[in-house]
Amino acid sequence: MSATVRAGATAVVTRDEGETRALGALLAGLLEPGDVVLLVGDLGSGKTTLTKGIVAGLGGGDEVTSPTFTLVHSYATDPVVAHVDTWRLGGTDEVADLALDEVLDAGGVAVVEWGELAAPLFGDDALVVHLGPPPEPDGPAERRLVALRAASERWRGRVARLAAAARGAGLEVRP
Ligand SMILES: Nc1ncnc2c1ncn2[C@@H]1O[C@H](COP(=O)(O)OP(=O)(O)OP(=O)(O)O)[C@@H](O)[C@H]1O
Ligand SMILES: [Mg+2]
Repeated sequence: MSATVRAGATAVVTRDEGETRALGALLAGLLEPGDVVLLVGDLGSGKTTLTKGIVAGLGGGDEVTSPTFTLVHSYATDPVVAHVDTWRLGGTDEVADLALDEVLDAGGVAVVEWGELAAPLFGDDALVVHLGPPPEPDGPAERRLVALRAASERWRGRVARLAAAARGAGLEVRP
């Protein structure tokens, strides 16, 4: 990883589902109206789990499920969270048809599973969160490397604050 990328990136290793939720709740505390969070990771990597933490951190309940068939679930949190799953969509055009910009313009935030399909719509404005197994081949299966990449000033300071908060909460933060 280059020094330039590192300046706007942090990685947290979560040891179980609860820690991924806790990280989501910490991220929730930094969200602002109009934010887009793109979640990138394989099946079962923890995208919905992180979203549960975000919704809970914004005062929502624990009813969050993957919006695989309905495409978008909105939660009456503050700000409103539109939880999106693009798994069944065929292309970025179909993500555009979801009119997420209306949610954002109204002061909501969008959290998008399989976010790579939505990335061209938001460019560097979005926070990209990669979830996957950490590089150690023989570690416990519950461990996830959650890498957050701020590509713009919109996120850079907040990613640094999140890293500090995660460290303070006892999570394993990697440089
Ligand atoms: N550290 C961890 N963080 C998150 N989930 C974990 C962790 N360890 C184990 N798990 C388990 O992995 C699964 C993650 O499921 P989740 O629905 O969050 O993934 P997903 O990326 O949304 O999957 P999908 O691609 O099907 O939408 C859950 O069963 C959870 O209990
Ligand atoms: Mg999911």
